[in-house]
Amino acid sequence: MATVPTIALNNGVEIPQLGFGVYQIPADETVEAVTTALEIGYRHIDTAEMYGNEKEVGEAVRRSGIPRDEVFVTSKLNNGFHRRDDALRAFDGTMAALGFETLDLFLVHWPLPTIDVDYVETWKAMEEIYRSGRCRAIGVSNFNPHHLRRLFAETEIRPAANQIEIHPYLTQDELRAFDADHEIVTEAWSPIAQGKVLDDPAVVRVAERYGKTPAQVVLRWHVQRGDVVFPKSVTRSRMEDNFALFDFALDQDAMGDITALNRNERTGPDPDTFDYVPR
Ligand SMILES: NC(=O)c1ccc[n+]([C@@H]2O[C@H](COP(=O)([O-])OP(=O)(O)OC[C@H]3O[C@@H](n4cnc5c(N)ncnc54)[C@H](OP(=O)(O)O)[C@@H]3O)[C@@H](O)[C@H]2O)c1
Repeated sequence: MATVPTIALNNGVEIPQLGFGVYQIPADETVEAVTTALEIGYRHIDTAEMYGNEKEVGEAVRRSGIPRDEVFVTSKLNNGFHRRDDALRAFDGTMAALGFETLDLFLVHWPLPTIDVDYVETWKAMEEIYRSGRCRAIGVSNFNPHHLRRLFAETEIRPAANQIEIHPYLTQDELRAFDADHEIVTEAWSPIAQGKVLDDPAVVRVAERYGKTPAQVVLRWHVQRGDVVFPKSVTRSRMEDNFALFDFALDQDAMGDITALNRNERTGPDPDTFDYVPR
């Protein structure tokens, strides 16, 4: 089984660079999908309260018999729980659903800068959660530099990670450099743009040159850039392909050909305007 490299977060906690994402996996298919992922060798699962499948992720991890400290699990604070007391309660809910004593990484899912609760209040609640010892690291998702600068100025703990949309059509070079300058690990969500980049002729050419699938060369591109990735699939053969990234390396030309596809095109919402709060 391939060894997945780990990256040290700014508090020394090690995160596996490759994981398995469970967004849009229906709850009743999640135990099976996560069980398969763990069988293949994935040791990092990315879930969220918003995905509605934390309970099933916890069940699959516990049922697998793999020691809890060998599987890195991330979850996220849902929109609508940004006030301090709501955030603390939401974290308790996440822990109860997962059935864990300790979570590896807890993220603020979206900054929601246009709602009436300031994400600085939310981050202070995240700091309380971290200090409780029930979560090994805290971070953010979908934060831009101006959101992060406010956290740096008004709070005490630096986020360990920033999980943002990144793929060949949205390479996010400035935001990644900002994260790196501030010792924040960048995690790339929708790393294959939910499949949209896989037919791109430049991606197909690189894949043919290496005898790999388009998904493999795109995921390898992320890994070589140093980001954390967790592709989602419910298809065993794709889960296997997506895990087999560590027996080849892209040369500079191939890396450049994929990076050159950037057109600043999002598949998801813009963090500066996104204001969805579940009712
Ligand atoms: N923080 C955030 O705001 C945020 C937002 C979105 C996502 N995320 C995280 O990022 C993870 C990944 O992103 P994502 O689920 O949006 O999209 P993704 O991983 O870029 O793409 C998933 C899609 O690609 C297909 N696929 C997967 N592997 C493939 C392969 N080897 N060949 C061909 N098609 C393949 C899957 O199909 P099948 O499943 O049918 O095989 C699925 O339709 C999520 O699961 C979640 O954990 C976070």
